[in-house]
Amino acid sequence: MSKQDYKRILVTSALPYANGPIHLGHLAGAYLPADLFCRYQRMKGTDVVYVCGSDELGVAIMVRARNEGIEPQALVDRFHPVIEAAFKDFGMSFDHYGRTTSTVHAETSQEFFRTLAEKDVFKLKTEKQLFDPEAGIFLADRFVIGTCPTCGNENAYGDQCENCGSTLSPMELLNPRSTLTDATPELRETTHFYLPLGDFQDRLEKWIGTHPEWKPNVLGQVKSWLTEGLRDRAITRDVPWGVSVPEDVAANMGVDASGKVIYVWFDAPIGYISDTKEWAVKKGDPEAWKRYWQDEGTRLIHFIGKDNIVFHCLMFPAMLMAHGDYILPENVPANEFLNIEGAKLSTSRNWAIWLHEVLEVFEPDLLRYALASMLPETKDADFNWTEFQSRVNSELADVLGNFINRTMTFAHRFANGKLPELKNPDELDKSVLAQMKTFPERIGTAYDHHRNRDAVFETMALARLGNKYFNDAEPWHTRKSDPQACANTIHVSLQICASLSVLMEPVLPFTAVKLRNMLKLTGVRSSMPEGNDGVGWDDAAGSLLEVGHKLGEAAILFGKIEDEIIEEQKSKLGAPETAQSEDAPFESLKETITYDDFSKLDFRMGTITAAERIPKSKKLLRTEVDLGFEKRQILAGIAQHFEPEDLIGRRVAVVANLAPRKMMGLESQGMILMAEDREGKLFLMESDGENGSVIR
Ligand code: MF3
Ligand code: ZN
Repeated sequence: MSKQDYKRILVTSALPYANGPIHLGHLAGAYLPADLFCRYQRMKGTDVVYVCGSDELGVAIMVRARNEGIEPQALVDRFHPVIEAAFKDFGMSFDHYGRTTSTVHAETSQEFFRTLAEKDVFKLKTEKQLFDPEAGIFLADRFVIGTCPTCGNENAYGDQCENCGSTLSPMELLNPRSTLTDATPELRETTHFYLPLGDFQDRLEKWIGTHPEWKPNVLGQVKSWLTEGLRDRAITRDVPWGVSVPEDVAANMGVDASGKVIYVWFDAPIGYISDTKEWAVKKGDPEAWKRYWQDEGTRLIHFIGKDNIVFHCLMFPAMLMAHGDYILPENVPANEFLNIEGAKLSTSRNWAIWLHEVLEVFEPDLLRYALASMLPETKDADFNWTEFQSRVNSELADVLGNFINRTMTFAHRFANGKLPELKNPDELDKSVLAQMKTFPERIGTAYDHHRNRDAVFETMALARLGNKYFNDAEPWHTRKSDPQACANTIHVSLQICASLSVLMEPVLPFTAVKLRNMLKLTGVRSSMPEGNDGVGWDDAAGSLLEVGHKLGEAAILFGKIEDEIIEEQKSKLGAPETAQSEDAPFESLKETITYDDFSKLDFRMGTITAAERIPKSKKLLRTEVDLGFEKRQILAGIAQHFEPEDLIGRRVAVVANLAPRKMMGLESQGMILMAEDREGKLFLMESDGENGSVIR
């Protein structure tokens, strides 16, 4: 089917894991390209629905929550709103942004699972796996460490020893232990559901064969998976966080479903369907989702990063084929990776640019424009701040902004702020108007074929054309020598500005609105969901303003970015995150103790009466603490946090029955309690109670 024959488009972007904020790498892969595409299609008048949502289930979420000592639900409740807000501020135009912890999603995934089970698609396999008896969960390879049987490295992972490089299975490790709890794992038998991808190999190959137009980087990966031969994939897990395997379905197959959930890579893509259902309900037409998923007239497009190719080009399509009621994607335009300042992006080293942080400094359109110009469309690409600065200063400000500004200024000064009539246009005027006609098609084709860098380049080419025309026409001369020629220049330039305000909409949606306000150009279609009818993409080929049309005030659209601002951004890369205490992990909870354990501790209030540094010790301070009934000498490892003189007279909580210890030749007769926050800052625990008061 050719692109024009489709009746509607459904667009998805990979559901981001709700275990951290969004960074530029995410945007470059799955989000900005999809948003450019959807906004273009809406301007074109196409029926398009764009869904996305937070991926909130799965082991990755569970592990991070565990490290922070909180429930997975609390973790996703923290990040989902952060992600959603950052997307909104960046101008992402989702029709719906959902979450996979929703009821609709659980039901949709279970129904899908049930249908496949009823169609006898799944296989069952029973295997022995390592189980952490303390955490109560089966351990994925990376959660087991132990001694490498080859080289004796004591910290080899369950899948690989990083010392000698040998590939391992968790069962081969000597002295295995759980990375979650340090417990020794036990071997337990468990049964899992498998999706036999091999059974779909022929159909998948045939289907992929009908799409020679897909991006080479995508086809390359897909073909290498197919050449290797597709293998069965377990699609259930024994973990406590996920969509439960429906009990009756499992029971029918002789499996006890308790403790079993659907594997996150099975449920997450179904999230696209759940999100479309939620969109339909929100819109008041609950059945509408079916048109988008079950009618061959829908062009389904998945935008993803390259790490998700196998799931979207093979596994999810196999699921959709197995189910039978669904259409398959028409394209999966995966992008490659975005490096930052020449180095691989790494969130653990904070070598990343966080969206919510940069949006505090820069307008979203500046980021959209620069990033769209640097997208890793065919190979990995680099985002660097110097290029960002020059894209903004010498393209947005010097070309686009300058052209609009000089046109507006001229129109106000020499045409009473109105669109003058075009009379007896000369060759230059005519040729520029003729060239203008070609831009909607040129830019649009690039967007439609996911060549976003070209699309943005072509958009800027129209501004360059305008600028060059303005220079060549020299209205500052003709204004005296040939007033009609000057009026013609203003006329043509203003029409270019008006067309630009439509054609820049995908990449510069906020600026486009500002520009239309300046031009007082109304009746233009919105590129946001549920946009109205009106002047659209193709209309930008012609003249959008009428003679005599009254213009609004001129304003500067883009300021230049100073070097200091850029240096500041550069210096943030790789720096430990301080302002981000929100994201630092909480220390995990210690194991439960009994009341008896607790009652053995004797905490008392006291007052520090003396404090001094201990020679040769960086960390230790010697203090004297008055406990009311006696004085104690206590050594505390707080010298890097407090000045001794600031401590004198402060009230503190003390562990009063700790066995005395010698440090640096001095006896410490107790311990001062401190609160340590997530960044490692220390705080005293003060109280009004008199010295010697018991704390319980
Ligand atoms: N959360 C996954 C990731 O960030 C992407 C899930 S895409 C979906 O890699 F299709 F499964 F939703
Ligand atoms: Zn080894």
